[in-house]
Amino acid sequence: MGPYDSLRDYLTDLEKRGRFIRIKEMDQDKYEATAFVLRMMDRLKNRAPGFMIERTKQNGRWYDTKVIGNIYNGYDTLAMCLGVEPVTDDNSEMYCKCVEKIESFADAQMNWKKIAPKTVDKAKAPCKEVIIREDKVDLFQFPWIKNGPEDAGAYISAGCFILEDPDIGRNVGTYRMQVKDKNKTGANFTMNSHAYQFMLKASERGKESIPAAVAIGIDPASWMMSSTRLAELGDDEFALAGGFRGKPVELVKCETCDIMVPAQAEFILEGEVPVDVEPEGPYGEMLGFLGLPGATFYLKVKAITHRKDPLLYNIWCGMERSTYTLPWDAANFMRLKKVMPSIVKIYTPIECPLITIVSIDKHLPGEGMEAGAAVLGQRMIGFTKKIVIIVDKDVDPFDLPQVMNALGTRWQPVPGTLLIPQMVSMPLDPSQKEKFLSSKVIIDATRQLPSEGGPESWVPTNRCLMDEKSPDSFKLVDSKWDEYFKKK
Ligand SMILES: Cc1cc2nc3c(=O)[nH]c(=O)nc-3n(C[C@H](O)[C@H](O)[C@H](O)COP(=O)(O)O)c2cc1C
Repeated sequence: MGPYDSLRDYLTDLEKRGRFIRIKEMDQDKYEATAFVLRMMDRLKNRAPGFMIERTKQNGRWYDTKVIGNIYNGYDTLAMCLGVEPVTDDNSEMYCKCVEKIESFADAQMNWKKIAPKTVDKAKAPCKEVIIREDKVDLFQFPWIKNGPEDAGAYISAGCFILEDPDIGRNVGTYRMQVKDKNKTGANFTMNSHAYQFMLKASERGKESIPAAVAIGIDPASWMMSSTRLAELGDDEFALAGGFRGKPVELVKCETCDIMVPAQAEFILEGEVPVDVEPEGPYGEMLGFLGLPGATFYLKVKAITHRKDPLLYNIWCGMERSTYTLPWDAANFMRLKKVMPSIVKIYTPIECPLITIVSIDKHLPGEGMEAGAAVLGQRMIGFTKKIVIIVDKDVDPFDLPQVMNALGTRWQPVPGTLLIPQMVSMPLDPSQKEKFLSSKVIIDATRQLPSEGGPESWVPTNRCLMDEKSPDSFKLVDSKWDEYFKKK
């Protein structure tokens, strides 16, 4: 039961729950693992298990380093990490319980609970079991995965960059890293990332480079904090992770600089990021499209430390449907509730973060559009959204068939649509002509009131009639539920 101190503790429980499988070997030169992930998503969807590949072929060489993937599929896995009890297979129930749990970590002003990390001795830090320095450093000793045929090469896809600055404080952020040489990787700090601010600061100070460390394979709470924007610039993600875990994250000092890194990590890379950019990419992006080459910062690796028999965590970016970014969605929900108390629920489908579905307790004409505008009008939320669908409170945004039904039966495209010709937007959407600019749409699929151009009165839904006129029927069926399915 979570929260977990390390990735390994989590995987042990995942396996006990039957949500993790071991595979003897895979030939990634034939993109076997990639095809496996895609097939699992087609066939098993949110029940696709996490997996460990015991031997992997990459670039003509068989590696014994174990590769793990898809370990946060389905909200039951996230519930385990957050310490939700009991964990069930009901994905919708687990989603709601996870959101509730995440909300419980913030006060009314949305200040997240924090527990400062604690320093441990090197001897108690498994990430130091093996230490490789300077000219012995060779990233090609490990099977970093090339996910797709058009990727520029192998990537360290789950690396959490740790940067420290005397003025700003600490930042922990997940940014992809193309493996470029035995001691060099990309460092894809996009313009809107906090790490980019660290590079600007270094440039202002006239520095040529800054020290950096990268942790790969860390405890689930720290991973969530590194991969989602809960922390403001200068907030310490490890302190937030401590709040989520209910106990401090253990940190230990790097070998080659003063940066503190998670003692329980599988791998640590230490080095420096020059204030300079180089070509990087292409790479199969999170929205499921090939991202074109660009220029990014890079990391010169000075030391690698790792556990004995380390687990190499790889993300099949834009192919897996992972749940670990839920804290970000939950925070957005909390922000929206503050400005619009009539908002009941919000859900960003795991299949595409550009879409958001919001249910509201509608009383006034125009409230649907108001909710849509509230989503798009807040940079933290609207930046990543292109399509906002508003539904009535009796439609569960998490239940996509219900949302489809509402679109078909409650929405009138005119006047229930607001098209915004151009607005700032996340740059990864391949349909954009100009990066950072997108048209957007609010679809008000709530029952339109007569003053909004809707019918004089709305006929009730079949389910609503049952809920109102015959609620005992459900009690009867629930009490006999197991009986119906007993083998005769
Ligand atoms: C697997 C994965 C890969 C990511 N890759 C990048 C990336 O290459 N560049 C980037 O700017 N953000 C990337 N992100 C998103 C950031 O991790 C996220 O925005 C996080 O909040 C960044 O930390 P920051 O808020 O401290 O900048 C990635 C997230 C995940 C989960």
